[in-house]
Amino acid sequence: MPGAVIVHHHTRYKTYPGELTGIVVFSCLIASVAGCIFGYDIGLTSGLTSSEPYMVKFFPSIYEEMKKQVVVNQYCKFDSQILTLFCSSLFLSATVAAFFAGPMTRSFGRKWTLFSAASAYVAGACIGGVSVNFPMLLTGRILVGAGVGISIQAAPLYISEMAPAQQRGMLNIMFQLMITVGILTANMTNYLGSKVPGGWGWRIAVAFGAIPAAVIALGALAIPDTPTSLIERGDTATARKTLLQIRGVGDVREEFDDLSTASEDAKAVESPWRELFFGGKYKPQLTFALLIPFFQQLTGINVIMFYAPVLFKTVGFKQNATLVSSVITGLVNVFSTFVAVVTADKVGRRALFLQGGTQMIISQILVGTFIGLQFGMSGTGDISEQYAMCIVLFVCVYVAGFAWSWGPMGWLIPSEIYPLAVRNAAMSITASVNMFFTAFIGQIFLTLLCHLRFGLFYFFGAWVLLMTLFIAMLLPETKNVPVEEMAHVWKKHWFWRKFVIDTSNDARSAEMRKRIALEMS
Ligand code: BGC
Repeated sequence: MPGAVIVHHHTRYKTYPGELTGIVVFSCLIASVAGCIFGYDIGLTSGLTSSEPYMVKFFPSIYEEMKKQVVVNQYCKFDSQILTLFCSSLFLSATVAAFFAGPMTRSFGRKWTLFSAASAYVAGACIGGVSVNFPMLLTGRILVGAGVGISIQAAPLYISEMAPAQQRGMLNIMFQLMITVGILTANMTNYLGSKVPGGWGWRIAVAFGAIPAAVIALGALAIPDTPTSLIERGDTATARKTLLQIRGVGDVREEFDDLSTASEDAKAVESPWRELFFGGKYKPQLTFALLIPFFQQLTGINVIMFYAPVLFKTVGFKQNATLVSSVITGLVNVFSTFVAVVTADKVGRRALFLQGGTQMIISQILVGTFIGLQFGMSGTGDISEQYAMCIVLFVCVYVAGFAWSWGPMGWLIPSEIYPLAVRNAAMSITASVNMFFTAFIGQIFLTLLCHLRFGLFYFFGAWVLLMTLFIAMLLPETKNVPVEEMAHVWKKHWFWRKFVIDTSNDARSAEMRKRIALEMS
């Protein structure tokens, strides 16, 4: 049966025959667990440094200083750059590792890259969990970071290449869903860990990450590599077999041919990095590869994910209540992600971005204003319970907005817009920029809060406004468009069409017809 055609934004895109099979769902689920180990570390980072036994063991002098500090200004908390640098080390290691992920996914395939990354994570989590000194602790953290950096490059690629175009959004957002589950799990293990008698609960929390990582490593042995990756590495026979198996139909010729053509194009590119940066052909892709992750972090989401307990303490919550509040934001994060899972392939990526962005801007302004009204510029005074509740409420509204916009789209869009020729390299850039700015925001948050005070929320609000306008004007809709057909999307876009060179089959055959006609005349 030949592929059907769907009409979308006045453009006709192919739909290949096939259905969503069990093997695709299973394989994508395994790959999405990579989100879980990433999220787990985001959640764990803040929890560890608030564990007394952990601090006494590894950072005794910083801990002493911290205890001595008397808070006079609510905006200026104890801030040790060394301690935050240690927390950031995981994300800095991931920043570097993500660059190696490109050549790895290209040469060894997505499956084996996932396997290696997960194995590095298991080793790191075990070393971290049994650490008796600082060098061991740091080694564990760097290995875990490498595992995270590599797997967050490979997993979104894997999912988007396995998924049929019609369900790509939903399947890919499972990755983000797992991130949120990871964060929530860490919030809870932090809490439970602090209750373990003997002060070694933090060891359980650190080592616990090895469980999801082992699931990925073992799962990777059971799942097939993507047909694209198999063709890329010259194994066309297995690629055809896999495509037949994952699409669940007898005829996959059309899709297979398109994948092969993409692979031929990719082979003509000697250095994907050079091509991406200097080739001039991939301007929109390069723009999004850099800006999507940068903007995602500039939403300020990790201020909440890393510092929710600090923030809620600032607005006057007691120790236990701060923990409860971070579990509440964690739950809101998980459940709101389902909205994106269900709607991304229906209402499209742009609608979610625009709605979620607007919601985030409004809630950031409100949170900033509530805090400002209560603490003013000096950062002194107490907050009433009603005010504190309002703040928590609007933080939740903000988190929900992120959870169905910049959260999932921050990983979905990059995974679907790069042509194979530069896909591995571009996804490495995306993952690396994301990790770098995750570390950066973590590093400067306390300083920013101390200087910008409640204006910090306006600061991030202004960024969200800017990025929402950017999306409104420059992001074309990509729902339901097969990855291999994405070139048309740029060609139709009012702005990007000036920058893309037509290399599609149609253009090539038109070009060839012209040349033949010329030769004949
Ligand atoms: C981001 C993380 C963030 C998480 C929150 C992810 O998409 O990359 O930085 O902490 O969403 O759920």
